[in-house]
Amino acid sequence: MAPRTVSVVNMKGGVGKSTTVASLAETLASEGLRVLVIDLDPQSNVSMMLAGQDRWVELRQANRTIDEYFNQYVYGGEPRFFREFVANRVSDIAGEPSLDLLISTPEFRYIERHALEKWVSQGFDIRQLNTRFSRLTHSAIENVADSYDLVLFDCPPGISMFAEAAIELSEFIVIPTIPDYVSRLGIFAFRKRALRSMEQRRFTDDRIYTLITKYEAGNSLHQSEAALLKDQFNVFETRIPQAEQIARAAEWSDHKRTLEQKYGDASAVIRNFAGEFRERVGLI
Ligand SMILES: Nc1ncnc2c1ncn2[C@@H]1O[C@H](COP(=O)(O)OP(=O)(O)OP(=O)(O)O)[C@@H](O)[C@H]1O
Ligand SMILES: [Mg+2]
Repeated sequence: MAPRTVSVVNMKGGVGKSTTVASLAETLASEGLRVLVIDLDPQSNVSMMLAGQDRWVELRQANRTIDEYFNQYVYGGEPRFFREFVANRVSDIAGEPSLDLLISTPEFRYIERHALEKWVSQGFDIRQLNTRFSRLTHSAIENVADSYDLVLFDCPPGISMFAEAAIELSEFIVIPTIPDYVSRLGIFAFRKRALRSMEQRRFTDDRIYTLITKYEAGNSLHQSEAALLKDQFNVFETRIPQAEQIARAAEWSDHKRTLEQKYGDASAVIRNFAGEFRERVGLI
């Protein structure tokens, strides 16, 4: 069976996209699902969170990066299967959860530009380029479809060809957002884009979810904004609190740890969110 495909996206930066991808992937993998995370962000945040810096350096030296995967289509050469680029069993959670990762590197930001330059000079227009990025991403997933229950894309802030491709092939979209006015404005514009992609595939808008992040229960602005979001969008019941432990969990630990050790007091809410996510995307 094909895996569920989910993009975690927001035009806005710093809203907790990578943190959400990492904690969700770790929780679901530790519950026995086979999860693949694909890092589409040159900042490589989720790669560092899930693989740690040492392994990230090793993978990079072995050319097992998303840059190298796409490079072979831009520059040619002997093609390698997508699965050969994927790192198996990452994460510092104990029990070797089935959590795999395709890392990104800072150089990934140049691939898109090189690809555009090359393909535009060959006469492709923007629509065709979009299709090309989508096809490449799609065939990547097909190559590993039997191996996973869930594929999660961590998208960069702003918009990129790769993020567009991920949105276009994802069955579900999760938009993490901080409950404040500026962030809510940002969702309107972005949601339209996501909706268009869903409609093209005859999916309905109930596949686009907003996740409230960095929530401060004692903050009355957060309370009122969270209520407005709930009226206007399809929002997860679970709100991810602003919590020191969640920020600390980003740092790799050389000692394996349980989810409870890693996320501390926030682990219950992280498990709740994972449970709600499973229900909504049909991974029960
Ligand atoms: N619930 C939370 N509580 C406290 N800190 C958090 C929480 N979620 C995220 N952070 C912190 O906020 C910062 C931004 O989070 P993160 O990198 O996940 O956001 P992002 O949306 O992926 O950012 P970018 O747009 O740059 O990719 C990080 O320092 C992270 O540790
Ligand atoms: Mg990020």
